[in-house]
Amino acid sequence: MHDPAILRSMHRDRFHAEPVIFVAPGRVNLIGEHTDYAEGFVMPAAINFATLAGISPRTDGRIAIYSENYREEMVFEALPAKGNKGWTDYPLGVVSILTREGHKIPGFNLSIWSDVPLASGLSSSAALEVATALAVLSLVDATYPGPVLARLCQRAENEYVGANCGIMDQFISANGKENHSLLLDCRDLSFKLAPIPDHVALVIANTMVKHSVAGGDYPTRRRESEAACAVIASHRPGVPFLRDATLEDLDKWGNEMEPKSLMRARHVISEDLRTEAACEALLRGDMKELGRLMNEAHWSYSKDFEGSCAEADAMVELAQDLPGLIGARLTGGGFGGCTINLVEQKDAAAFAKSLAERYEARTGITPQIHICHASGGAHRLE
Ligand code: GLA
Repeated sequence: MHDPAILRSMHRDRFHAEPVIFVAPGRVNLIGEHTDYAEGFVMPAAINFATLAGISPRTDGRIAIYSENYREEMVFEALPAKGNKGWTDYPLGVVSILTREGHKIPGFNLSIWSDVPLASGLSSSAALEVATALAVLSLVDATYPGPVLARLCQRAENEYVGANCGIMDQFISANGKENHSLLLDCRDLSFKLAPIPDHVALVIANTMVKHSVAGGDYPTRRRESEAACAVIASHRPGVPFLRDATLEDLDKWGNEMEPKSLMRARHVISEDLRTEAACEALLRGDMKELGRLMNEAHWSYSKDFEGSCAEADAMVELAQDLPGLIGARLTGGGFGGCTINLVEQKDAAAFAKSLAERYEARTGITPQIHICHASGGAHRLE
């Protein structure tokens, strides 16, 4: 699928130079939604959709970036001081952060190709950032450990793109492992690998409703949940993040919170508990419990966090009685995008077909359904 030869010849034709090529995957999150910026737990896996970045240096100091997806080449005389709300903000943001880290980045040509579905909650942005970071660092012969690389890319998105995301997407793109999901502690970035058994397929169902982290709802939900945390912290100063709060805290002080804040916090606190439990279930091969936790997580995300939409709720509901389903939930930042369905491998093809038919009959929208597997993290190709 990810053929570096195509990117190489594209780069040669356009820029008359030989590129070095890097790949960074998108991701799916099995469970743990809107917990990362509360320093809690997430359990994502990198997937076999990825972004390729080919790079070669220039001598005139300019930055030229071509995206095959947007069929657009943009040339910058120098690094713009801030983003302009276009797709180039992601690669330029990475250059900006690396420059602030003290790297003297020369001019370069960058060619981008990606098959991570855009605006679908599968972290096309993080894949672009991480692939760019590896490519740009290669120009100055620098490398970083995966977790540090992820932090730099998250900063690019927070500080340059202006999207207030957490660490999950960049982390898994940089550190994913073939056939594994990873329980990440977003406080200290330590993680536990949880193998995904061979008999389980990751079936990703795109509602075709567009998702965006930069849009209004993500930061609103984040603010609402942080407001709940501030109420708890006013009584119990040891609670800087919802990671440190308990459901008992909500029983005690929930009445001092805005009702929406209380609901958001109930989702985040219970989601942390579910995510750790889900990892334990996966590690001991208890697929039934894993599925139960995923379903519970979906409805908490939908009802308490109000982070779903009618189409994603329908996609989850319609999957419930299909043969082979282990668990289904909306994955990623929310308000559209994809559901993740853990499905018995032997049933995956029939599951995908039936789910697509049911969803189209219910909503009138033709979904895209992909049978994926967990893949490795970002690296140099060839
Ligand atoms: C987006 C963000 C992540 C995370 C998820 C929700 O993907 O980029 O940092 O907050 O939403 O879990």
